[in-house]
Amino acid sequence: MDEDARGRLTRDGIRIYDRDDFAGMHRAGALAAQLLDEVAERVWPGQTTGAIDDYIRGRITDEGATSATIGYKGYQHATCISVNHVVCHGIPGDKKLKDGDILNIDITVIVDGWYGDTSRMYVAGKLPRRAERLIQVTHDSLMIGIEAVKPGNTFGDIGNAIQSYVEGQRMSVVRDFCGHGLGRVFHAPPNVLHYGRAGTGPVLEEGMFFTIEPMVNLGRPETKVLADDWTAVTRDKSLSAQFEHSVGVTGDGVEIFTLSPAGRFHPTYG
Ligand code: MF3
Ligand code: CO
Ligand code: CO
Repeated sequence: MDEDARGRLTRDGIRIYDRDDFAGMHRAGALAAQLLDEVAERVWPGQTTGAIDDYIRGRITDEGATSATIGYKGYQHATCISVNHVVCHGIPGDKKLKDGDILNIDITVIVDGWYGDTSRMYVAGKLPRRAERLIQVTHDSLMIGIEAVKPGNTFGDIGNAIQSYVEGQRMSVVRDFCGHGLGRVFHAPPNVLHYGRAGTGPVLEEGMFFTIEPMVNLGRPETKVLADDWTAVTRDKSLSAQFEHSVGVTGDGVEIFTLSPAGRFHPTYG
């Protein structure tokens, strides 16, 4: 069978996977989450984002897995590392982290053809108070979005839950990037918006696999992409945070594929 031809497609082009396929997603998600657990102790002031990426690249190889991002549309790294006002797709490099920097590390691995995509926030040194609130709200917005995942709800219900919560905290939701279907491919329909109106969009069905990955800014939601064609930053230079899980819709709710084996998804800052 063609790798991408499992299950069936909905009218909206969203693949419906079989019950057996959840196991593959759990294996891929668990490895991605474990690597994010491991990397926590490698984040400190003076450390470079390139060194963090090198560590992850080596570990993916050790595990006999594949990085989904190396070679993806010309991207050369095993992670995206987005520091402070970088919203997403930060490129690892020689720049040293400074005390109080906050960063998102985003990993996607392929295990036996299944994709596991997850990201979390970290801090180098001491966490500034305003960053702590941003990170907490962003984390909670993801979990509130996940609570809206069950058959019969719509993708608009997920976006609406996230947006209402974030804006109620006087922060903003980035519109320019979204979550995505995944499974035997990295990015597939639908676009999973982190804002929107309840009851709109495709209806969730058992067997859909997708990411939810809200980006939240302390200031305005607008972003721009730098001349490297990857790095997205807030236009107003305000701090930005993001968390991402890969999930599957079950008969009565949701399974999270990228739960932290060590229970460290939610950052506990020393
Ligand atoms: N992992 C990112 C996502 O959540 C995609 C990164 S693509 C890359 O969808 F090429 F920038 F790595
Ligand atoms: Co993603
Ligand atoms: Co990701």
